[in-house]
Parts: sequence; C-alpha cells; structure tokens
Amino acid sequence: MSVSKRWYGILGLVLALVSTAVPAAGEVNLYSARKEELIKPLLDKFTAESGIKVNLVTGKEDALLERLKNEGRNSPADLLLTSDAGRLHRAMEAGVLAAVESKALNTLVPAHYRDPKGYWYGLSVRARPIAYVTAKVHANELSTYEALADRKWKGRICVRSSDNIYNQSLVASMIAQRGVPATEAWAKGLVANFARPPVGGDRDQVTAAAAGQCDVVIINTYYLAAMLNDSDPAQKQAAQKLAVFWPNQQDRGVHVNVSGVGLTAAAKNGPHAVKLMEYLASDAAQRWYAETNHEYPIRTSIPVSKTLAAWGSYRADKLGLDKLGHYNAEAVKLMDRAGWK
Ligand SMILES: [Fe+2]
Repeated sequence: MSVSKRWYGILGLVLALVSTAVPAAGEVNLYSARKEELIKPLLDKFTAESGIKVNLVTGKEDALLERLKNEGRNSPADLLLTSDAGRLHRAMEAGVLAAVESKALNTLVPAHYRDPKGYWYGLSVRARPIAYVTAKVHANELSTYEALADRKWKGRICVRSSDNIYNQSLVASMIAQRGVPATEAWAKGLVANFARPPVGGDRDQVTAAAAGQCDVVIINTYYLAAMLNDSDPAQKQAAQKLAVFWPNQQDRGVHVNVSGVGLTAAAKNGPHAVKLMEYLASDAAQRWYAETNHEYPIRTSIPVSKTLAAWGSYRADKLGLDKLGHYNAEAVKLMDRAGWK
C-alpha cells in the first residue's frame, strides 16, 4: 500500500468515527407545559454546547399529562416540564415519572425545591405574594395571607378561581403547616372579602385592581413583572398602580412554587435527558430564567432581573414542595367548602 493510500485509509477511519460520533450525541424528547418562547432559547444553547438535539413538544399541563398516561411505555417523551410542583406530583402519582439520582442535581437544586426521591426537580421559583393598589392601601396595613380574612378587607380582594393550581398550591401549603380547620376558616373569611366572583388569570386581577374593582390581589410576581415590561402601555400603567407586599415575613415566609422537570418512566434517552436537566439547573440557565422570565432562580446566589430587584428580597416558605401535591386534593375540597368559586 502506498503512503498516500494508507493516509486515505486513516482519513476514512477518522471520518467513519466522526460520522458515528454525530448520531451518538443523540437527542432528547421534551414535553413542556411552558410556552415555547420561555424555554426554546435555553434548549438551543444546550444543543450548541452538548450536540444533543432537543425535540420540543409544548402543550397544556393536563393535556400533556393525559398524553403521557395514554402513551404509557410507548411514549416518546423523555422529560416532562411543568410550571407547578403540584402537577409534577400528579405526574409522579400517575406513574409516568422515574426517579433520578444525580449528584449534580442534588447540589444545584435546594432540597425543598425537589422531590425527596428524585421524581422531579425545581428549575425556577415562582413567588405568590400580595400586591396592593398604592393609592388605596398602605403597606403597613398588610401582614400575612391570614390577615386578608379580616373584615377590614370586605369587598376589596381580587383573586383568580380555585380551579387554578397556583391557588390550590397556596392553600395546600397552608394545610401542610396550619392544618385543615384553620385553613378552612381562613378561606371562608377570604372568600367573604372577595370584591367579585373569581374571574380571569393573575394579570386580570391586576387589571381589575388598577381599574378600581379591588385594592388587594394575590398573584405570581412574574405576571406583574411582565406587565411592567409590556410594550402595551395599558398593561404597564395598570401594573404601575400596584406594589408587591411580601407576607408572612415574621413566620413561615411567602408561598413559593417551582416550575420543574421530571424524567419519564418511558424515557429512552435517559442519560441525555439527565444532562439536559442538569443544564437547566446550571448557573447560565438560571441567569437566563431570572432575566427573561422574571422568575426567581432556585439559588439565591444568582442575580435577579432589575424589576424583581426593585421589589427587594423576601423570605420564602421552606416547606418541601412535594407537600403541595400531597395536599392538593384536600385543598380542592376545602376551597369548594369555603365557597371559593
Ligand atoms: Fe403562570
């Protein structure tokens, strides 16, 4: 064999290795309840760094869970991403998730923001405090969620309906820490103070308050932050009429929830999927969440967006978020008994 032929032979071998190396980088199939624009840029960065392709399927939380259940072992999904720990717990109970043991994840995700057995991991923190119309309420009139049941707030509170999982999770957190009777008495008092039957989403509560229908709302902060940064001046002006109040700072802290991710029981690309989970919990990804989605990072070492920084820091409830799922059914029944529509 001539020298040049031998070199071609080696080159051929190298090319063969390269071409097998490309598919070996593999792919991950992700079912996401987050809107595409709130996750896709991160996935693209992950692909650029790892060579692992991510196939994204977005849908509504309940629809994705149903789909996973129906597909069973044949599901192409490797990961399920949702915007609420309660739903991840539901997915776990439905048997569609698998436990993950990852040293990196256990280091990156604080213990109260993940399932104790590794069935799901929180990726961004979503605080649900009180917001108030600054022209009508002074911050020193506010203190705790519990105090919103006081008669002083009669006809002054707007909050979305009880079929919303954010409210169910708030109530579940109270059941976990204060028990059913105290939480039920509170919910009844709160409902008695509603300015109107619950309607719309969190943004709609802000709009209603700005329009004078109520003085106090309970909302996830990223909605208010998004409104403040909205290109629509009406949204911006409405949001500017409100300020954030961090309740329960003397006791358990503000109710928080997480968006999070779990490996599916049907996952066929497990190692790649875990790599993506670890990436989403990394510093770079956490910074992106904080800046783009106006959510709080899972680690306090990561800086928050300008809008969030202006609201100051807060003490978050340290309740293990698996409890939100654990008490979800009880919360739904309790809210129904309290007349929370
Ligand atoms: Fe939301």
